Amino acid sequence: MTLVAVTGAEGFIGSHLVEALVASGHRVRAMAQYNSFSSFGWLETLDAETMSQVDVVLGDVRDPGSVRGLVDGAEAVYHLAALIAIPYSYQAPHSYVDTNVTGTLNVLEAVRQLEIPRLVHTSTSETYGTAQTVPISEDHPINTQSPYAASKAGGDRLADSYFASFGTPVVTLRPFNTFGPRQSMRAVIPTVIGQVAAGERTITLGDLRPTRDFSYVRDTARAFLAVGTAPAGSVVGRTFNAGTGGEISVGDLVQLIGKLMETDLDVIEDEQRIRPAGSEVMRLVCDASRLRDATGWAPDHSLEQGLEDTIAFFRDPANLARYKTDLYNI
Ligand SMILES: NC(=O)c1ccc[n+]([C@@H]2O[C@H](COP(=O)([O-])OP(=O)(O)OC[C@H]3O[C@@H](n4cnc5c(N)ncnc54)[C@H](O)[C@@H]3O)[C@@H](O)[C@H]2O)c1
Repeated sequence: MTLVAVTGAEGFIGSHLVEALVASGHRVRAMAQYNSFSSFGWLETLDAETMSQVDVVLGDVRDPGSVRGLVDGAEAVYHLAALIAIPYSYQAPHSYVDTNVTGTLNVLEAVRQLEIPRLVHTSTSETYGTAQTVPISEDHPINTQSPYAASKAGGDRLADSYFASFGTPVVTLRPFNTFGPRQSMRAVIPTVIGQVAAGERTITLGDLRPTRDFSYVRDTARAFLAVGTAPAGSVVGRTFNAGTGGEISVGDLVQLIGKLMETDLDVIEDEQRIRPAGSEVMRLVCDASRLRDATGWAPDHSLEQGLEDTIAFFRDPANLARYKTDLYNI
């Protein structure tokens, strides 16, 4: 059984990745961000059998010692910890640089010094900005339209530089928008489903025009596993998009969710949720052929299948109670 370390393990994608890693025979040392409630986030909801293979460590990627302790002895490190909300990055950009740039530097340094055989660094499709050509391959220009995107691209550049300068065995996974159970209400799909599940029929949203390529979270977790376990020669030093190649506007997505939840929905565009014109990424569609060619990865879930699972999750009162559906969550 191999030991792997995961940062951001208590979060949305991280908790699904922990489940996937354990299911494929790994033992996981999982960092949850230190907090005074001793909360392990979504890891607290995983079943006991899974958690018997998980050691949770409270820590912080901004602290080099904390990161060294986490990764020491691991066969692979999956680095997902980040601040991810675009609107909050307008308010608190310094914290994004501290977490997403310096935090990533701390992970790279620990992996280099302790000679860990594999690091999977997490990027985001937001680094491309509005598509200049579709579908977006890894050769598309980087155009960072928010402090969030800029901080993630900073981490990506550091990862590239550590491979070039020191041969650090890092592979960058660049997921497109991911959705599913446990996602926070900062993202559009939980915002819509959560409000409907809470009994709302008038949904409050930002701009309805942008299009996105949505992947179901279990498919994204498998993409992490694919690049974390592939032979070094086929993935190390490279960046891989993960996405479906599909595209839907936010407005059409709301209609689709209304249909699946058998509810007629009215939508109000809320001024405070509209992003500055230059910052809104209007179109993202993924070309994941590099990932498919290198690892055989392909998505398993259609958008509708993933939405059905997500709706079932939000309709469970115990899950819904964890959300503040009446607030604008940034
Ligand atoms: N959700 C998406 O659609 C999407 C798309 C592309 C890329 N990503 C990337 O995937 C990763 C996971 O995102 P997510 O959607 O699961 O979000 P999330 O907010 O649920 O997970 C991020 C986790 O990082 C942790 N964290 C934040 N600051 C930390 C710190 N200083 N020290 C330690 N931990 C810290 C948070 O507690 C949280 O659990 C991020 O790197 C994000 O940029 C997400």
